[in-house]
Formats: sequence, C-alpha cells, structure tokens
Amino acid sequence: MPFKQGRLLRHFDVSQIQPACSATDLVSAIPLAANFTAVVISSLQDVAVRLGQNGDSSLIRDIVATVGQEGEQLGVYRTLFQDLVPADQPFLTQSTREFAYLALQQNFIVPGTCPNDNIIDVPIFGTLSVLTKNIQAVDQNLTFSIRTNSTEGFNLVYINQLNLPIVQAISNATSSNGMFTFQADFPFTKNNLNGLIIVAVTNSSAAFINTNDVANKTLFGPGLIYPN
Ligand SMILES: *[C@@H]1O[C@H](CO)[C@@H](O)[C@H](O)[C@H]1NC(C)=O
Ligand SMILES: *[C@@H]1O[C@H](CO)[C@@H](O)[C@H](O)[C@H]1NC(C)=O
Ligand SMILES: *[C@@H]1O[C@H](CO)[C@@H](O)[C@H](O)[C@H]1NC(C)=O
Ligand SMILES: *[C@@H]1O[C@H](CO)[C@@H](O)[C@H](O)[C@H]1NC(C)=O
Ligand SMILES: *[C@@H]1O[C@H](CO)[C@@H](O)[C@H](O)[C@H]1NC(C)=O
Ligand SMILES: *[C@@H]1O[C@H](CO)[C@@H](O)[C@H](O)[C@H]1NC(C)=O
Repeated sequence: MPFKQGRLLRHFDVSQIQPACSATDLVSAIPLAANFTAVVISSLQDVAVRLGQNGDSSLIRDIVATVGQEGEQLGVYRTLFQDLVPADQPFLTQSTREFAYLALQQNFIVPGTCPNDNIIDVPIFGTLSVLTKNIQAVDQNLTFSIRTNSTEGFNLVYINQLNLPIVQAISNATSSNGMFTFQADFPFTKNNLNGLIIVAVTNSSAAFINTNDVANKTLFGPGLIYPN
C-alpha cells in the first residue's frame, strides 16, 4: 500500500507523507506500539472514573470492553519480538487524559498540522526527555532534560501500577542553550517498579494521592519508561 500510494503521489507530483515516528520497520514498531497501548489502557481508567463522576455510567461498559481489547493487543506486542510475558502486572499503571494527550502531542503530532487541536481542553506541559536509552529494570540514576530557565522547586515523580506516586529529588542540574539536563534516582527494587512507569516534573514535592494529583502539578511530562 505505501508503495502504491508513493507512486500515485509521484504521478501527481505531490510529496509523500513521511512516517511521523521513529519506527520504520516492524521489529522496532512493535515495542513502540506496546508503549502507547499501555498508556491508552492506563488512561482509560481515568476516562471510566470521569464518566462515573459525570453520571454517564452507561458508557463505562464500552470503556471496559475497550480496555480488555487493548490488553489483548498489548499481550501480543509484548511477546512478538520481545521475551516478555503477555501481562506485565496485576494492576496496570494509572494515567490521566492529560498524560495520554501530551504523549501523543509530543511524540506523534507534527506541530501545526492539526488545525483545531486548540479545542482539546487539556493543559499543555513542556516536553520531558528521557535521555537514558535502553533502560533496564534495575536500580540506577537516570538522566532527563527539560527546556526551562530554572529547576528551582522542581521534583521528579514516577507513577507505577496503582501505588502512590514516588517523588525524587532532581540532582546535578546543568544548563546549556536554554535546556536543563539533570539526574534522578530510579528506585526500582525498593518500589517494585514493574510495567509502565510514567514520569513527570512537578512544582511540588508534597505527597501525591494519585496520578490526577500529579497531573495537576505537572510542568513537564510525560516521560515513558516501560522496561519489562
Ligand atoms: C517501550 O519502549 C522502549 C523504548 O523503545 C523499549 O525498549 C521497550 O521494550 C518498550 N516496552 C515494551 C513493553 O515493549
Ligand atoms: C544515584 O546517585 C546518587 C547520588 O550520586 C547515589 O547516592 C546513588 O547511590 C545512585 N544510585 C544508584 C542506584 O546508583
Ligand atoms: C523564566 O521563564 C519564565 C517563564 O518562561 C519567565 O516568566 C521568567 O521571567 C523567566 N525567568 C528568568 C530569570 O528569565
Ligand atoms: C552527579 O554527578 C557526579 C559527578 O559527575 C556523579 O558522581 C553522581 O553520580 C551524579 N549524581 C547522579 C544522581 O547521577
Ligand atoms: C485536580 O484539579 C482539578 C481541577 O482543579 C480538581 O477538580 C481535582 O479535584 C484535582 N484532583 C486532585 C486529585 O487533586
Ligand atoms: C504548579 O503548577 C501547576 C500546574 O501548572 C499550577 O497550576 C500551579 O499554580 C503551580 N504552583 C506553583 C506554586 O507554582
């Protein structure tokens, strides 16, 4: 299909739309699909809660049906080219609509190509880049970067499973060309950090009660870590 499309576009002298993400082959596309499918499943939890709170409980059935279906897909992605078990943990990580939309906005939507994205009613956070590559499921320090002129009062928060968010101090912050690079501990063993881990930079270090609480105080994010 892409080949035919390319020929058609060339025929009309129109340039072909280039792939909008880093994966251009199936083997690298599958882990990418696993990552965003996990974010979708996590965010649908929040959608179900909001439907209940708004008195739209009859729609929750559709959300639960979709969650199950997405879980079936994710199980395949986890086993296809990777040596992972189909289900990563008993209770999948919680996310919010803010983190779901910003994961799309920062990684897939080409700026200026979505004419009416201004009507999507979510706050826009800055990008949190996870600079450490190929993160393994072990205790370590991770390196991140954000575009800012100060990291005063900022903290790093990890969200995993349905556990309380984990707040870590930012260290070694160094500034260059308007970007701050910094490190934070990744306390894997102590917190049994399995499955999808959502990372955010917040302007508060107070104990967070859940992922909505984190999103309310997020300035940069989400960063995604999904090692196992
Ligand atoms: C999520 O993406 C990372 C980075 O590409 C990859 O290493 C990891 O295997 C992916 N996770 C899963 C469960 O596929
Ligand atoms: C992370 O860095 C801190 C400060 O340098 C250090 O105390 C800690 O042991 C490091 N953690 C790991 C797992 O290496
Ligand atoms: C830093 O940036 C913020 C917002 O981008 C701005 O309000 C503030 O004045 C800046 N501070 C300095 C010291 O440049
Ligand atoms: C901060 O930098 C020092 C010197 O490069 C290094 O020893 C230390 O481990 C770093 N801290 C973290 C948390 O990575
Ligand atoms: C997050 O902010 C919204 C809007 O201000 C508020 O309704 C909600 O209760 C807050 N959630 C948490 C968990 O603090
Ligand atoms: C922290 O960030 C949130 C979200 O951007 C914002 O609503 C709040 O005013 C900020 N609080 C402080 C103390 O800067």
